[in-house]
Amino acid sequence: MEKTIEQIKKEALKELEAASDSESIKALSVRYLGRKGAVTQYLRNISNLPKESRPEAGKKANQTKRAIDELFKNALKRLEAPSYETDNRIDVSLPGRVTRRGSLHPITQITQQICDIYIRMGFDVAEGPEVETDYYNFEALNIPKNHPARDMQDTFYISDNIVLRTHTSPVQPRIMEKQKPPVRIIAPGKVYRCDSDLTHTPMFHQIEGLLVDENVSFGDLKGVLTTFVHQIFDPETSLRFRPSFFPFTEPSAEVDIRCVICKGNGCRVCSHTGWLEVIGAGMVHPAVFENVGYDTTCYTGFAFGMGVERIAMLKYGIDDIRKYFENDLRFLRQF
Ligand code: DAH
Repeated sequence: MEKTIEQIKKEALKELEAASDSESIKALSVRYLGRKGAVTQYLRNISNLPKESRPEAGKKANQTKRAIDELFKNALKRLEAPSYETDNRIDVSLPGRVTRRGSLHPITQITQQICDIYIRMGFDVAEGPEVETDYYNFEALNIPKNHPARDMQDTFYISDNIVLRTHTSPVQPRIMEKQKPPVRIIAPGKVYRCDSDLTHTPMFHQIEGLLVDENVSFGDLKGVLTTFVHQIFDPETSLRFRPSFFPFTEPSAEVDIRCVICKGNGCRVCSHTGWLEVIGAGMVHPAVFENVGYDTTCYTGFAFGMGVERIAMLKYGIDDIRKYFENDLRFLRQF
């Protein structure tokens, strides 16, 4: 007797597995659970059993009946669940909803382009903190307290000895303290100054460069910067190196390029000089090497720093630096 209800269940499952549409499942349900169905017949026959085995057999048969019923119902539910093919609430002929694609901020794009040029020349990318100590931002770079060079870089003080960095140059001593020569890095990042007008924002971006090795000369610096200018602007752009002063380089230079707007004829952007100042540079000052424990008798090096916004303004012909940070999509979508 017991074997038979198990067998019925087994057969029902086998048939259910083969059923591929709701009609055949419904037919199966009738064949097994209907008035003349196999399970119903079986239940009816229990009354023919010896009295003492009836309760046990009845219980088992009813459990099996409920289990089979549930399996059929679940299978039906699965088949009748809405799908793309059958659910006519989805109108597949409607045009899709367009997802607007974002893009990288122009400053990020130019930063990547600049870094790519130096990476191809063999430089590694390094980073330093934006909240910097007075030591790395000034002291280690040969800018002692009360030095007039600090005035040009008036900044935001967090406390007496902690500032928002005014330039990316502090990455130089930070890297040299950790690494022996040869060193060949660029360091992109945000910098901060108390400055705000058409060409200055309190936050802007710089890219620092540093190369230290044996026998590094000013000629190497000229070669690297000339290659850079020719790649980021145009291979015809002429450069000039003007003597300048930075406490952490000696000699120091300001690098000008022929005005990309007027090609040197004189215009508002170049203040009618025909030249644009784009990079500060020089040979690393021995005092900086001493601060990081480099032997000044065997190593020399050069460093340079450039403003990303300025290069981006010249490349795209933008006359107001504040446009970069107003987040006006009509402006930003053009890049
Ligand atoms: N840190 C300087 C500035 O923000 C730029 C600079 C000049 C960086 C000369 C250098 C350098 O590495 O050698 O004005």
